[in-house]
Amino acid sequence: MTTIDSCNARPILDSRGDVTIEVILASGRTRGSASAPGGASTGIHEVPAFPPDGVDAALEIFKHKVAPRLKGMDAEDQAQIDATLHEIDGSDNLSNIGGSLSISTSLAAAKLAAAALDLPLFRYLNPRPPEHMPRPLGNVIGGGKHAVGGTDIQEFLCLASGEDSWKNVRANVAVYKAVGKKLSNKFPGMPLGKGDEGAWVTSLSNTDALQTLASICKEMTERFGFPCRPSLDIAASSLFKRNMYLYKEGKKTPEEQIAFVEELVDKFGLAIVEDPLQEEDFSGFAELTRRVGGKCLVVGDDLYVTKVERLKKGIAEKASNAILIKPNQVGTLSDTKAAVDLARKEGITTVVSHRSGETTDSTIAHLAVAFGSYAIKTGIVGGERIAKLNELARIQSQIRGE
Ligand code: PGA
Ligand code: ZN
Repeated sequence: MTTIDSCNARPILDSRGDVTIEVILASGRTRGSASAPGGASTGIHEVPAFPPDGVDAALEIFKHKVAPRLKGMDAEDQAQIDATLHEIDGSDNLSNIGGSLSISTSLAAAKLAAAALDLPLFRYLNPRPPEHMPRPLGNVIGGGKHAVGGTDIQEFLCLASGEDSWKNVRANVAVYKAVGKKLSNKFPGMPLGKGDEGAWVTSLSNTDALQTLASICKEMTERFGFPCRPSLDIAASSLFKRNMYLYKEGKKTPEEQIAFVEELVDKFGLAIVEDPLQEEDFSGFAELTRRVGGKCLVVGDDLYVTKVERLKKGIAEKASNAILIKPNQVGTLSDTKAAVDLARKEGITTVVSHRSGETTDSTIAHLAVAFGSYAIKTGIVGGERIAKLNELARIQSQIRGE
């Protein structure tokens, strides 16, 4: 038993300069702390990040309602901790206490328990070594709600799939740098910006941006000797207005959107396509998955928001073959794990993910390993992104006993 005897929550900044929450729990001299990231292209079915009165209200709730309840509880009893958070909240969507307070408390408890048992978090959560390390999926070119004046498509990513995490991370960096060089050569004398996740921002069209990424991926696949494949997060909900997908180059009906994505998958050999359709279109997802699911992972992010109920619907409708796992979308570690367990049972691939507003908390690297996830989407550069990538490499060394 690891008795929680001290509980603190404080405001901290995320990578966008927005205020978020850090929770520190302690048992004697052992501590566990975790913080919450924040999204910009959030799904409408996510738990709200904060209570209606904002982050200060969340901190008050922690002080007056959460801390007194947690004191004396066992940090190793994750189910009880998370049930208590739901009970204090009282709603069915954590809307009274907010997901940021909830996930940082939930993860801090797990980290405290792991520290008390002298185990790294990934091992505490899953004593069995993973069959493979999660492959890094990194954002190379960014647009949508993460960048002003960039592509309509939110993320053009690279998935490095070698055997070694460190080499994979290095391959993604090499792709990122080579794409940056290519973009600056294309527009001599023009500034080259970065979006919220550190990805390059370009005025190229969606297809030209993808073409640029795909050709560099091919080059790096040859150089590194393992696949570096282009991928997309279309974040289609942010393009969807009045039953049409609005691109700078014109509108697409849902049927045209499916055909467009199918064409991109075929032409560029995409490894992953996330949120190709808006967050309510289970049947559109199913149609696309039927067409490309044999050669590409179709990932639901806003579609599922890491929630078991929505994943169940997706499974029943064969909507996708993969799910994005963002712990703060659902608000507790137990709820996150429930989605992962259901996905695994049903043969749905999991990809653990950061948010566009991040802290230097590296917990998701441990979660991706403990969950045996196929990939971890966590950017390529920037302190808040490399915190997770470096942790992934450290975890690999621990597993290998290096
Ligand atoms: P967000 O975007 O963190 O801004 O919601 C990330 C994503 O859509 O995957
Ligand atoms: Zn997404």
